[in-house]
Amino acid sequence: MPDSAAPDSLAARLIRWQGEHGRHDLPWQRTRDAYRIWLSEIMLQQTQVATVIPYYQRFLRRFPDVAALAAAPLEAVLEAWAGLGYYARARNLHRCARAVAGEHAGRFPRDPRQLAELPGIGRSTAAAISVFAFGTRAAILDGNVKRVLARCFGVEGFPGEAQNERTLWRISESLLPSAQVEAYTQGLMDLGAGVCVRAKPSCGDCPWRTDCVARRDGRQAELPAAKPAKARPERETRLLVLIDGRRVLLLRRPPAGIWGGLLSLPELGGEEASAFARRHGFPARPARELPALRHAFSHFRLTLRPYLCRVDGAACQLGEPGWEWLPIDEIDSAALPAPVLRILREFRGQKTEDRRQ
Ligand code: ADE
Repeated sequence: MPDSAAPDSLAARLIRWQGEHGRHDLPWQRTRDAYRIWLSEIMLQQTQVATVIPYYQRFLRRFPDVAALAAAPLEAVLEAWAGLGYYARARNLHRCARAVAGEHAGRFPRDPRQLAELPGIGRSTAAAISVFAFGTRAAILDGNVKRVLARCFGVEGFPGEAQNERTLWRISESLLPSAQVEAYTQGLMDLGAGVCVRAKPSCGDCPWRTDCVARRDGRQAELPAAKPAKARPERETRLLVLIDGRRVLLLRRPPAGIWGGLLSLPELGGEEASAFARRHGFPARPARELPALRHAFSHFRLTLRPYLCRVDGAACQLGEPGWEWLPIDEIDSAALPAPVLRILREFRGQKTEDRRQ
């Protein structure tokens, strides 16, 4: 195992490199505010820095502290998250804010083990928050760091597999320096995001290039190993795109289950689109099938079959509890599941004469 206290250890070199080449001006740096750091880490879990920055700033204006977020209704949080995707993060963010406000007197715990018990905070995110907010000495292991360490130490196998993950955690812990953990951790993130990238890493710029097993053996493209393909069952759903002039009918989904709490298109089951419309009192025209779309969830693949049905301009005055008529021009700022947004964008992008059909 490496000696991370040695003056020219991997950690020492990474810290020096971070000082010269790393990122220092991200909006969540130069603060010790755990709320801000937590928010940034959650947003950055599945989204790139450039996309996160404007969301992060807007979110903070709307919810400046954990008390404001805990007091807000879930719908307001989902709305502020709209467009970032992976909405489970927003639901957990809200639950976490309520737990911190209710069970921790409004203050995030300093101990990474306690942080990891909160909704939406895994072991690596807990460590990152604890390092940046409290200067704790804790190891991170997100997707980028797995790639960096798998290459540098030549760790074979898919990094998400439990045994390989344990190996990577051990390596990550063994590299931790005894001081300057913030700069070291940020350096690890910067290395993974900007140098040791998945395709065509810039090995010439890497402070670890002289130690890297993947570089030595020319195996950068093979490490880390890809996720083994798994067979996922196929499912289908028929969706109704009910358009009244410029508005589309959306229903709020129940809080639990897929797309929980998001607005979505009504599911038709086996019913004909025009029969659905008539059943709810709309004078229906014949429906038209729009192009189908496939979406992969972690446990199954879903084919979405949208059916377009146009109703008269005054239909939006008709409604039932949970129904929302959303102007087509506002779909980008609504909390919609990604494939539903794709269907509606495709529809909006069609020529006007075509839309009138
Ligand atoms: N990705 C995850 N956490 C990050 C951070 N604090 N800075 C930049 N990218 C990150």
